[in-house]
Amino acid sequence: MQQRMTYQNQLRKALETSLYQGKTIVFGEGAQSPALMMIGEAPGGEEEKQGRPFVGKAGKNLSAFLEVLGLKREEIYISNVVKLRPVKESPKTGKAVNRPPSGEEIAFFLPFLQEEIAMVAPKVIVTLGNVPLKAVSGEKGAVIGDYHGKPLPLAEGRILFALYHPAAVIYNRSLQAVYDGDLLALRAFLESEGLL
Ligand code: URA
Repeated sequence: MQQRMTYQNQLRKALETSLYQGKTIVFGEGAQSPALMMIGEAPGGEEEKQGRPFVGKAGKNLSAFLEVLGLKREEIYISNVVKLRPVKESPKTGKAVNRPPSGEEIAFFLPFLQEEIAMVAPKVIVTLGNVPLKAVSGEKGAVIGDYHGKPLPLAEGRILFALYHPAAVIYNRSLQAVYDGDLLALRAFLESEGLL
């Protein structure tokens, strides 16, 4: 717990003196020594409002994910690469709407993500979409189409298991069957490792 407070204070401090000053920070949350850490891209509007990851529309997808694995939210650790909501002004309404995180935002948060992974020390990291796949694998050219649905060994005995981002599945319905198959492959993998 102490380690998490120290980590959060360091990140808070770094943000105070950055151009992201004043934005709501959405920290990762979850079990103390989880087998599984899930990493998304960045918080959306509801996550920013509640200050918690994956509580908006994406939270519903998370529930389906957990159901397939037979896990509870509290049994895993959930975070994002970027801990602030990336927004732009909608040209139509003038209101703030979500946008993908920029290269600068990702680069700013990457060392904090690496520290967070070392602190949480999960056996398996599940990434959702391209942004966390690149960040966790360290491969700038990695694309989800090549990596999804199978375990990839990382340093320190950790395993990366990449999934499509649930939002991509909503926009491209033909990905649903692929995503469902990947989830079953993840379950089978976790079972074979004695982690479920
Ligand atoms: N909410 C999050 O916290 N992360 C995502 O990647 C999407 C929605």
